[in-house]
Amino acid sequence: MAVRQISEHIFAVGIIDWDRRIFDELVPLPEGTSYNSYFIKGSEKTALIDTADPSREEEFIGNLIKLGINRLDYIVVNHAEQDHAGCLPMLLELFPGAKVCCTQKCQELLSLLLDVPAQRCQIVTSGDSVNLGNRTLAFISAPWVHWPETMMTYCPEEEMLFSCDLFGSHYATSDLFVQDMAREEILAKRYYGEIMMPFRSSIVKYMADLKEKKIAVIAPSHGPLIRPASLILDLYEQWTSDQVKNFVLIPYVSMHGSTSQMVNTLTELLLERGVGVKPFKVTSPDSGALAMELVDAATVIFATPTVLFGPHPDMVSVAYLANLIKPKTRYASIIGSYGWGGKTVETLKSMIPHIKAELLSPVYIQGAPGEKTRADLQALADLIAVKHREDSLVIG
Ligand code: FEO
Repeated sequence: MAVRQISEHIFAVGIIDWDRRIFDELVPLPEGTSYNSYFIKGSEKTALIDTADPSREEEFIGNLIKLGINRLDYIVVNHAEQDHAGCLPMLLELFPGAKVCCTQKCQELLSLLLDVPAQRCQIVTSGDSVNLGNRTLAFISAPWVHWPETMMTYCPEEEMLFSCDLFGSHYATSDLFVQDMAREEILAKRYYGEIMMPFRSSIVKYMADLKEKKIAVIAPSHGPLIRPASLILDLYEQWTSDQVKNFVLIPYVSMHGSTSQMVNTLTELLLERGVGVKPFKVTSPDSGALAMELVDAATVIFATPTVLFGPHPDMVSVAYLANLIKPKTRYASIIGSYGWGGKTVETLKSMIPHIKAELLSPVYIQGAPGEKTRADLQALADLIAVKHREDSLVIG
């Protein structure tokens, strides 16, 4: 990838990974990603903010060579995960005078994960900064976005926030700055849902602190830079707020058609009541698409048949993921059908303790749905519509 100039003193030297399709064997990457790294050339000293994934080390070092970098005073490591710190050992060999600026926790992780010697690290925390001459790098400790050691780095002269994984997005693009905001919004929301949503309460605090700073540009660790910063900050305000949308997500799986009939009926009943709804088939689901829908759904209805004595394994996986990423869902329920017995409702309920939703009475039936089932689903749809209407946190 070409080195690109962001401003007189700042250069993008990271990697665009057009072909990567999964991250951590967990997060699907339908549109690739990037590993952003920034070189700051001050009048007296130089710094690199983050490195790149080790799979692209050769290309990354090539970028530094292309830019003619023969001295590095500081390597700022905002985050120890390998997609950003993976080329650090090589850099420490190439630049023996460089100091690694990182949090205490990050130093411990760099030592454990990459065998980085402690004496190469300069521990920093909020309030600390390094002076590069006509540019300053100020550090903002920001644990849990999304590891315990994460921090952000701010350059006041550029009004630029190097935000680590926060405010990022997974997609490969030749746009240095966001050009297509509609695309950015979808992919940043997906990224937020998958990676940042479990840490919503921490992010709310950091957002409040960031309001004290003049931020013109956000330079995240993945995806294009964002200018003006308000484009992404405003979206995060919505996503991290307590507000949810008048919208019901129905992750579903059906084996013989009974559960899907119930899903179709409930979908129709909710639509008739002015409630937004999305049936989401979960057989081989795209977990990123699911996470994105969970960001602001007021209600989630898990719809599954019983397999032997419990929920369908695909629904187990969905419930487990939903519980991990802790959506701000206000209401939840379970619908579906069983043949002769089982504990599907109890099992699913026990799997979602982190979803602090009010559980509405399940509609869980034996066999195929009939008139009684329709009446029960009608009662559930009525209840959801009323709850959404009366709850001041449900908007739209
Ligand atoms: Fe982009 Fe948490 O690494």
